Amino acid sequence: PIKALLFDLDGVIVDTAIFHYQAWRRMANSLGFDITEEFNEQLKGISRTESLDIILAHGGLVLSDEKKAELAAQKNEWYLELVSQMTPANILPGVTDFFAQVKAAGLKTALGSVSKNARLILERIGMLDDFDAIIDGTKISRGKPDPEVFLKGAAETKAQPDECVVFEDAVAGIEAAKRGGMLAVGIGEPAVLTWADLVVGSLADLTLDEVLTLAPTHR
Ligand code: G6P
Ligand code: MG
Repeated sequence: PIKALLFDLDGVIVDTAIFHYQAWRRMANSLGFDITEEFNEQLKGISRTESLDIILAHGGLVLSDEKKAELAAQKNEWYLELVSQMTPANILPGVTDFFAQVKAAGLKTALGSVSKNARLILERIGMLDDFDAIIDGTKISRGKPDPEVFLKGAAETKAQPDECVVFEDAVAGIEAAKRGGMLAVGIGEPAVLTWADLVVGSLADLTLDEVLTLAPTHR
């Protein structure tokens, strides 16, 4: 039986994925090149430093570690400017309803995010107390697609991997869930999240019953 539901943050609970994209794009533009929304897909779920490396390679730039640290800090500053305007109104459609069903059913919840800003964001949207465990970028040594973040979430909620369902908007996050031996619900496009066991546009399109009767698919 399913015991725990593990949620990614950016793009699943709250639409900070767009803020990450805007901040990275601003940084790329300041260096003289651009990134598209399509390119941005591969950055979802990827840590700050790894994202920076991918973007710099895309722009054909090789920079010193000092310069890279400066750029990562600048991006985070721009990102936090966008985040600072967030309120509970930024919670994505269906999330609040879905959590009410989850709590009523007595299931455990964990956050599984690579972001070091996860607690700050949960505080801003008033959801800090909605999770039994919070695994974020400060608690892991390997980012997605490594399953570490979700395996820690499972352990903290005392669930086995096959008793967990992961909710993810990132290709890397779906891969992390499947590598961890968990069921994965994709939030987004089926054509992008091909490894997910089910893909929906948002949590508003899903009932808890559908999740609890989910069977793994091998695509
Ligand atoms: C999430 C987002 C990524 C972001 C990463 C690190 O996984 O999907 O786009 O790069 O967190 O976030 P941070 O807030 O620590 O820069
Ligand atoms: Mg995400």
